[in-house]
Amino acid sequence: MGFSTDCVHAGNAPDPATGAVAVPIYQTSTYVQEALGVHKGYEYARTQNPTRRALEENVTRLEGGAGARAFASGMAAITAVSTLVKAGEHVVCSNMTYGGTFRYFTKIQARQGVDFTFVDTADADAVRKAMKPSTRLLHLESPTNPTMMLCDIALLSQMAHECRALVVVDNTFASPYLQRPLDLGADLVVHSTTKFLNGHSDSVGGIAVARSLEHVEWLGFVQNSSGAILSPFDSWLVLRGIKTLAVRMERHESNGRAVARFLASHRKVQKTNYPGLPEHPQHALAKRQMKGFGAMISFDVGSFAAARTLLSRVRLCALGESLGGVETLISHPATMTHASIPEEDRLALGVTPGLVRISVGIEDVEDITADLDHALSAV
Ligand SMILES: Cc1ncc(COP(=O)(O)O)c(C=O)c1O
Repeated sequence: MGFSTDCVHAGNAPDPATGAVAVPIYQTSTYVQEALGVHKGYEYARTQNPTRRALEENVTRLEGGAGARAFASGMAAITAVSTLVKAGEHVVCSNMTYGGTFRYFTKIQARQGVDFTFVDTADADAVRKAMKPSTRLLHLESPTNPTMMLCDIALLSQMAHECRALVVVDNTFASPYLQRPLDLGADLVVHSTTKFLNGHSDSVGGIAVARSLEHVEWLGFVQNSSGAILSPFDSWLVLRGIKTLAVRMERHESNGRAVARFLASHRKVQKTNYPGLPEHPQHALAKRQMKGFGAMISFDVGSFAAARTLLSRVRLCALGESLGGVETLISHPATMTHASIPEEDRLALGVTPGLVRISVGIEDVEDITADLDHALSAV
């Protein structure tokens, strides 16, 4: 079946008990057993839940994996995958990784004896140089937040596999509609379902998808053992959100392109970062690796004062963290999502005081550009 059909149907079989077309929210903690050791495959809800299972089957199909396990947040999914690495082993990670991932790796996993190297993963040679005999995992994000740089997933996967390392791609920014890392050679995919998969800014969750059954089994073991499961209601919300993923992404994509073109030609904007613009340094890679360019854009208005003015004038674009919802969200990385990074490092990564990030929603695009135009006129 095609991607849009899978969004609607994969994992969404009619309820066997009633024929309900929408998978029910199985809000139960346990299941009655017919006799000792005789049950329907469900014993206790941390271990198995039909609503969560439906979501896992759905995302497995969308990412083309062998299986998936859903967690209480994107960070819980990343934490679960990181259990594939033991003390004394080494991880190479993008230096533009999501701040929460960076914090977990450096403040928690490093304390447990895992060794990390953070590199610019847009530079394949830098990744090659960072690999060691002890490297077990390469953690990638593409596009990165907030500078919208890409990495060549196929090339880096090949390199990592030559070093016997696993490749994990955080596919939150692209969603499987735009990019399927397992098809490009990655071993595991993680998502904050909080973003495009759910798409309605009303649930926090995460999911990890694996190419091999061995890894699916391990993720299930971790899910049950550490217990950071996605609730039945959140599983249902994400499952429902995904039914419209393809149509939402089409509109996110066309609005994203239009807003990027508008920003790139605006005299108050000094630089626009969007892989769909021909001047983006990795435009050719984006065309090769992604089905479209998405709805995430960052742009520089030159100074903190200009960014503050802009952000105080927008009316439709909502000032807030997060991304991937139907509503346009706008934020200031230097003081919001990336505030915990020391200023010097932030600047080196391109997170300047004048940089603004926008997650373009599915509203009428003329309303989004009019709102930005009005706010930019005050800059
Ligand atoms: C790329 C990326 N990965 C992971 C996460 C963490 O997800 P969550 O907030 O659902 O834990 C985020 C959150 O913003 C993110 O942007």
